Amino acid sequence: MDLQLQGRVALVTGSGRGLGRATVEALAAEGCRIVVTDIDADAVERTTQALAAAGHEAVGFKLDVCDAGSVAATVDGAIDVFGRVDILVNNAGFTRDKYLTKMPEEDWDSVVDTILKGAYHCTKAVLPSMIEHRWGRIVNISSRAHFGNPGQTNYSAAKAGLVGFTKALALEQGKYDITANAVAPGFIETELVRALPTFDRLKKAALERNTVPRLGTPQDVADAVCFLCSPRAGFITGELLHVTGGRYSS
Ligand SMILES: NC(=O)c1ccc[n+]([C@@H]2O[C@H](COP(=O)([O-])OP(=O)(O)OC[C@H]3O[C@@H](n4cnc5c(N)ncnc54)[C@H](O)[C@@H]3O)[C@@H](O)[C@H]2O)c1
Repeated sequence: MDLQLQGRVALVTGSGRGLGRATVEALAAEGCRIVVTDIDADAVERTTQALAAAGHEAVGFKLDVCDAGSVAATVDGAIDVFGRVDILVNNAGFTRDKYLTKMPEEDWDSVVDTILKGAYHCTKAVLPSMIEHRWGRIVNISSRAHFGNPGQTNYSAAKAGLVGFTKALALEQGKYDITANAVAPGFIETELVRALPTFDRLKKAALERNTVPRLGTPQDVADAVCFLCSPRAGFITGELLHVTGGRYSS
């Protein structure tokens, strides 16, 4: 199926590595012009160069999604280069796990701010371009953790909040042919996840509970995101798509 993404301009937050990088690679392979953004400037450089070396159009910006000024400068820069932003993937996020009784306020704030306020800043900044062109696709990377994971009150709250944000945004922006959807990955085998001291235990639990008997890959998530970003998904909005191999709340 041709996803009809040729020439669309896609900005993905946290796309220096991991799922974000897999997503920009997949969108680029579908013909999108890519805005690589990440708080890690070296990762931005590496991903942008790799895309260019593969023959894709890509520009990179160091971006902190928590900083409204940094977001505004990035979106202005992307519009200077490509003229518009058609697609936003709010992907930047991380965990700071502890039971609530031991969770310092800074771990609550950093996780919730990056995931939720980051999505607020980035979405608000790209909407004028999308509204002007009467077309847009916003995909928010939630997590299976939106059901609630022990040790992740901060992360679960933020990822569940992102689902509510998505649904409200879909209701507000549908009239401009702007859709908003969320993707909830399960346990996906990335470099970072493989390096966790708990990797073997987490992998065993995932393999026992996934209906599809393997771990997810970054490509599994990127493929789902690409579809939701495409004109082919134009009648789907306000949805949450689980990419979990059939594992849900436990
Ligand atoms: N890997 C999984 O199993 C999994 C499962 C469910 C959801 N997710 C979600 O997918 C997203 C990507 O996860 P990943 O596994 O690729 O993680 P990752 O750590 O490999 O990549 C996240 C990227 O976000 C960047 N980032 C962090 N804070 C930022 C900020 N303030 N501004 C801009 N960039 C920032 C990091 O530098 C990093 O490059 C996250 O939102 C994560 O919660 C991952």
